[in-house]
Amino acid sequence: MLLACRELNMSFDAVPVLTGGYFHLEEKEKAAVVGINGAGKSTLLNLISGTLTPDSGSVTLKGGATFGYLTQHQGLDSAASVYDELASARAGIFAMEQELRVLELRMASAGSDALPRLMEDYSLLSHRFEEAGGYAVRSEISGVLKGLGFGEADFSKPCRVLSGGEKTRVALGKLLLTGPDLILLDEPTNHLDIKYQLEVLDIVKASGCTALCALHDLNLAAQYCDRLYVLNQGVIVREGTPEEVITESMIKDIYGVDATVDHHPSGQLNVVYHPAHLAKRTLP
Ligand SMILES: Nc1ncnc2c1ncn2[C@@H]1O[C@H](COP(=O)(O)OP(=O)(O)OP(=O)(O)O)[C@@H](O)[C@H]1O
Ligand SMILES: [Mg+2]
Repeated sequence: MLLACRELNMSFDAVPVLTGGYFHLEEKEKAAVVGINGAGKSTLLNLISGTLTPDSGSVTLKGGATFGYLTQHQGLDSAASVYDELASARAGIFAMEQELRVLELRMASAGSDALPRLMEDYSLLSHRFEEAGGYAVRSEISGVLKGLGFGEADFSKPCRVLSGGEKTRVALGKLLLTGPDLILLDEPTNHLDIKYQLEVLDIVKASGCTALCALHDLNLAAQYCDRLYVLNQGVIVREGTPEEVITESMIKDIYGVDATVDHHPSGQLNVVYHPAHLAKRTLP
């Protein structure tokens, strides 16, 4: 198990927003939390990430595990270029590279008494640099950017001029480069066109990370996630596989919407909404 949340309680101004329950993620699992606006999805992710401290209850991440968080409102407005923004996720490697260049200059002008020590330092640092993937770092960054649909002409664009969807893709690329064990994604498909909604979730699914996404699109949740949690008024009211959770009665109970849930010939779960027949919302 990678993450366990026990009896999390959180109120804002004495209004309960999350109330209790147990929730856990297995390693490599891709899970989604779904529910109406205001159900408490972002609050749950903020509690897991430590952005918020619960009134009571605990969040336990497996020892030594790391996480990255793509928040709902990232506000990526830096003047840094797209490439430099991603490179900042590898700042340690670029600092090592800089240190190697300095050592090279010092070795070039060193006397015979200082040279052996400098060569030893250089050898140790080059080894660490290689182990950390230093020689491949530029192609790794370019590969991630290209995988997220950026051409080389985009690499020098300042982040602040990017469209909403482009900013989301840069933020996700940066997060993936840090290689966390757990990624928390709050509506990662916001602003993305259909192609990138699919590509971004493909990348997350193919990654070795455990992922927890807040999502609104039930078809995407079914397609990309192993397990779903339905949050309603701060309580996990349903959980299970997409097949178990995404039912016509759940959609009617939670969202107050009539829908047909069936399967595409490919086997994929398929939700079709019937907005002309909005049902009266009946909470469980
Ligand atoms: N800092 C805060 N102060 C007061 N109330 C808050 C705060 N943060 C969240 N809330 C309230 O808590 C409830 C849950 O908010 P949250 O952002 O977790 O919902 P959500 O499920 O992520 O919704 P959405 O689908 O709109 O993103 C909402 O009613 C919201 O107004
Ligand atoms: Mg939210």
